Amino acid sequence: MDCRYCHATVEDSAYAAIPTTTMCMNCHASIRSDSDKLADLRHSFETGQPVRWVKIHDEPDFVFFNHAAHVNHGVGCVTCHGRIDQMEQVHQHEPLSMAWCLKCHRNPTPNLRPLDRITDMEWSADQASDQPADLLQRLHEQYEIPSSQFMTNCTVCHR
Ligand code: HEC
Ligand code: HEC
Ligand code: HEC
Ligand code: HEC
Ligand code: HEC
Repeated sequence: MDCRYCHATVEDSAYAAIPTTTMCMNCHASIRSDSDKLADLRHSFETGQPVRWVKIHDEPDFVFFNHAAHVNHGVGCVTCHGRIDQMEQVHQHEPLSMAWCLKCHRNPTPNLRPLDRITDMEWSADQASDQPADLLQRLHEQYEIPSSQFMTNCTVCHR
């Protein structure tokens, strides 16, 4: 399943959104409807109590992060979240520290990809092109990435 089926707001909003029980039950009312692994989900559906979300990625409140700004400028989910598709249980893959943000903001070009590959867990510029450096430079121009001076300005992430 595509990430955006469940995290439906990633392209439009700062937040990625966690899906509702009803959305899951659209399928699980009939698919594996008696599975033990879905007992919590059925309980939530019957009682109207949402499944408790264990939030893993959590920046401090003084940090401004925005999913749409990244996802619409060619930074894919896998770059920041790792191989979610292979994780039995989701864990944090990157430090999410200021140094980590800045490392990419100084030079995002190697981390860019086409917009139709944003949720692709396996895409790489090396495999997509004989001239990966040219492809990445074209993407940089297409997305009109601001100067590194702008991208590392304190007020971008602290507002
Ligand atoms: C079937 C729906 C579904 C799909 C498809 C899905 N997710 Fe999720 N995802 C969830 C739910 C539900 C949670 C919250 C789990 C919890 O409460 O611990 C979650 C949690 C996460 C988290 C952790 C959020 C946090 O910090 O707590 C990340 C990151 C994430 N998903 C990324 C992805 C990516 C990337 C993809 C595509 C490869 C994807 N998801 C596909 C339903 C989905
Ligand atoms: C579009 C349909 C669809 C939606 C929506 C969906 N699932 Fe699933 N889910 C499936 C399919 C298909 C399987 C695999 C069933 C199989 O292996 O026979 C599955 C498997 C599972 C399993 C493993 C069940 C088992 O017995 O091994 C869990 C747990 C699960 N889904 C939870 C969720 C949760 C939580 C949501 C909502 C965030 C969700 N699913 C939304 C289609 C869906
Ligand atoms: C540039 C890095 C980056 C990219 C790209 C990215 N994320 Fe995130 N994601 C984060 C950070 C950082 C957080 C924690 C945000 C916070 O706590 O304010 C997060 C949080 C989340 C959460 C928890 C809900 C929320 O919004 O806080 C989900 C779900 C998630 N990401 C899914 C995705 C999916 C799906 C994609 C791809 C479509 C994606 N992310 C792309 C860095 C990223
Ligand atoms: C892998 C590369 C990468 C990482 C990691 C990354 N960013 Fe970004 N960020 C980008 C790109 C590319 C843009 C889009 C710049 C543009 O074209 O506007 C962006 C844009 C932003 C913007 C919007 C800037 C504006 O236009 O006003 C904010 C805010 C932001 N990033 C915060 C963060 C924070 C906070 C972190 C760390 C938690 C982070 N970013 C990590 C690449 C990255
Ligand atoms: C690209 C995003 C980004 C930019 C630009 C940025 N920061 Fe940060 N900053 C962060 C993140 C993310 C954290 C939280 C790190 C953590 O929790 O580990 C942070 C944390 C901090 C902290 C708290 C440190 C601590 O130890 O708790 C201070 C102070 C700070 N930043 C100052 C600045 C100043 C001054 C600038 C400009 C020179 C700046 N930041 C530019 C992302 C950014």
